[in-house]
Amino acid sequence: MESAPDKNQGSALPSTDAVRNLLRAVIDPELGDNVVDLGMVGDIGVSPDGVVTIGFKLTIKGCPLRAQLKKDIESRLHVHPSVTKVVIDWGEMTADERTAVMTRARWNARENATETAVPLGARVLAIASGKGGVGKSSVTVNLAAALASHGATVGVLDADIWGFSIPRMLGMPDRLQAERVEGRDKPMILPNERHVGSGLLKVVSTGMLVDDESTALMWRGLMLTKAVEQFLNDVHWGELDYLLIDMPPGTGDVQMGLARMLPRTDLIIVTTPAISAQKVAIRAADMARRSFLRVAGVIENMSHFRCDHGESYPLFGVGGGQALADEIGVELLGQVPIEPTVAAGGDAGEPVALHGTGDAARIFNEIAARLAEQTVSLEAMSGCSARDETDGVEVSVRPRS
Ligand SMILES: Nc1ncnc2c1ncn2[C@@H]1O[C@H](COP(=O)(O)OP(=O)(O)OP(=O)(O)O)[C@@H](O)[C@H]1O
Ligand SMILES: [Mg+2]
Repeated sequence: MESAPDKNQGSALPSTDAVRNLLRAVIDPELGDNVVDLGMVGDIGVSPDGVVTIGFKLTIKGCPLRAQLKKDIESRLHVHPSVTKVVIDWGEMTADERTAVMTRARWNARENATETAVPLGARVLAIASGKGGVGKSSVTVNLAAALASHGATVGVLDADIWGFSIPRMLGMPDRLQAERVEGRDKPMILPNERHVGSGLLKVVSTGMLVDDESTALMWRGLMLTKAVEQFLNDVHWGELDYLLIDMPPGTGDVQMGLARMLPRTDLIIVTTPAISAQKVAIRAADMARRSFLRVAGVIENMSHFRCDHGESYPLFGVGGGQALADEIGVELLGQVPIEPTVAAGGDAGEPVALHGTGDAARIFNEIAARLAEQTVSLEAMSGCSARDETDGVEVSVRPRS
């Protein structure tokens, strides 16, 4: 006999604790900590129809970060399938609360100065896909190069532990070095660096730990998530504006690990225009939803091939990128055509985005500009909370400034 259906089954409303946990992924970039631990989140209510109400205290009422925080809070909570609406009840901290926040922020800044962890001010973007070979690594190196060429400091973490391709694609084969850092009992890994335009790339990959690509097979027994965790915790990243993570194909482990270790990671999902690829890519989006990672957008790679006569051929179909973006409810960040220069740039260690004159180079640079636009400009946010009311002295709480 079938048992009676459970009345609560299917009503997976988040608990107030779950909401609070999701909000831990919202970082006040100026204070360098998450809004929950900073004491900004007050009462939380969850109504039966999925409306989440949050009491939120800004450091000062006119804080210019407010719009950004609102967007961040909403997008973090909307990854939960049962949340229908987010209502924020804005308030302002008392002078005492503000002082407590500043004390904590200063303490964090001091801690961060000697920590290996990814700096809190860095935007973390993981480049993922549902299946292999769609161009994740090509997208990673080209976006990293484009962002750096415009002056950013960009970390690149090759999370494809045994299928690494980043060292070759960026022309950075050197072995990683380790260094003793004050306050740490074991040496830290120094990322390899390459100056690009006015910016800087800081890169780590297991390819920089082994002699050749075939030696990497020895790493098979290594737990993927452990290796990635080590790259996140034991690398002396220093100053970073972005951290781009090249994800391995077809594994959820690393993504789940990232969700645990760096919940503020945004995913960029790469797909080809074939509708069949889009169906596979949706798995990556599903995984994102389950691990509560936010998707920053979709990139359609290998969109079409334009011949010398200017005629365009959609070799791998049409519409997959837009269909996927629509299904997830995010923006299609760009459509990169098939161009031999993309592959040649990867083989030569010179991403096409740096010197290319074709459509692919232009589009990679446009996508990078779009991502930079999405990212809060910390400089534009000064004067919000970095004023210490106790002594009237402006203090910098960002370790990098
Ligand atoms: N837009 C493009 N035009 C031409 N060739 C491309 C393009 N994008 C990627 N490629 C080529 O396709 C191949 C696969 O790309 P890439 O290695 O970036 O994919 P991937 O998703 O990282 O693969 P894996 O899943 O194995 O890590 C490479 O040889 C690359 O040079
Ligand atoms: Mg790859």
